[in-house]
Amino acid sequence: MIELEVDLGERNYPIYIGEGLLSDSSLYEPYIAGRKVMIVTNETVGPLYEQQVRHALASYEVDTVVLPDGEQYKNWETLNLIFDGLLEKAHSRKTTIVALGGGVVGDMAGFAAASYQRGIDFIQVPTTLLSQVDSSVGGKTAINHPLGKNMIGAFYQPKAVIIDTLTLQTLPPQEVSAGIAEIIKYGLIRESDFFIWLEKNIQGIKGLDSDVLTYAIKTSCACKAEIVEADEKEGGLRAILNLGHTFGHAIETHKGYGSWLHGEAVASGMLMAAELSHLEGWLSVEDVDRIRAILVDSDLPVLGPEGMLINDYHRLMSVDKKVMDGTLRLVLMKGIGDAVVTSSFSSENLNTVLSK
Ligand code: NAD
Ligand code: GLY
Repeated sequence: MIELEVDLGERNYPIYIGEGLLSDSSLYEPYIAGRKVMIVTNETVGPLYEQQVRHALASYEVDTVVLPDGEQYKNWETLNLIFDGLLEKAHSRKTTIVALGGGVVGDMAGFAAASYQRGIDFIQVPTTLLSQVDSSVGGKTAINHPLGKNMIGAFYQPKAVIIDTLTLQTLPPQEVSAGIAEIIKYGLIRESDFFIWLEKNIQGIKGLDSDVLTYAIKTSCACKAEIVEADEKEGGLRAILNLGHTFGHAIETHKGYGSWLHGEAVASGMLMAAELSHLEGWLSVEDVDRIRAILVDSDLPVLGPEGMLINDYHRLMSVDKKVMDGTLRLVLMKGIGDAVVTSSFSSENLNTVLSK
């Protein structure tokens, strides 16, 4: 088992990565203060993995809330199901929530933990590749609004992150690819050596090769932890984690939540960011080609949705959280492994990229 630490002073927490961790009670117990636990999962993940988690929590009083499955349910109504479950079973401030599922469950369970009785403890148990390399770490919790993705939420750190890589055995290949998009992101924003390693190891990740997968998850989590430690609430640096996301969130909102997977939308958004960086004279055409090639190798989209117009992008990107005083800021690249957040790009170049 690998153990990393997210060093945030009094909000420090460990990330455990390994095989078969789901049912290891010793990983949960130090982070559960009271007698009661609420597992929050969904109708797909619950039947697969809830029993293993219950086994680990055998010495606690455990209730479960089962959410409908899908990005389209990441909303107020579904969030309320968690509050209903907590209140119906008289859960107090001493309850710990265990978020068992992908990023949708993790983001909603985390937001519920942040706000139930003004804040209760929670543990992230991510079961998709995307949530294991990204969303379970760093304390961003949220639901979507019809007008914008992840617009309602809170920064709220978990007490621990327990990553059981065996859960990926049941994940559909398209979801594995969506997770790879966020792994590639770390190579592009900060870790150029990791990007070179990824160019040689994408097939190993897709094939769930244990050593390759573990290295990719560990490197991703370590990179994310470092960025979050430096800038927990996204005053500056943390925004680079949003490479491709401004375009991606616009695509997800335009298509209707759940139509394009988050990782897929981010993948085509990262190529748009690369192309714009090239037009601004920062990234060589060879590097843009390498980025396109690794995304194609990962079975990820490299173009936006057919029929999505420049105006659609502009309208939806104008509510992005990086917009400041009405000015759109984007994460672009000065090179592979060197991301910047900037508003200095020409609107003509942006429109050229958006019209592809
Ligand atoms: P998801 O949670 O929708 O999971 C994808 C699908 O896989 C779902 O159908 C789910 O039920 C299923 N699933 C989960 N684990 C499984 C398993 N082990 N076996 C079989 N099926 C399984 O999607 P996701 O890609 O995990 O997360 C995307 C969400 O994460 C988006 O809402 C995005 O906004 C959010 N996100 C948040 C952050 C953050 O920092 N908080 C970062 C990135 C993404
Ligand atoms: N996924 C972006 C962030 O955590 O900041």
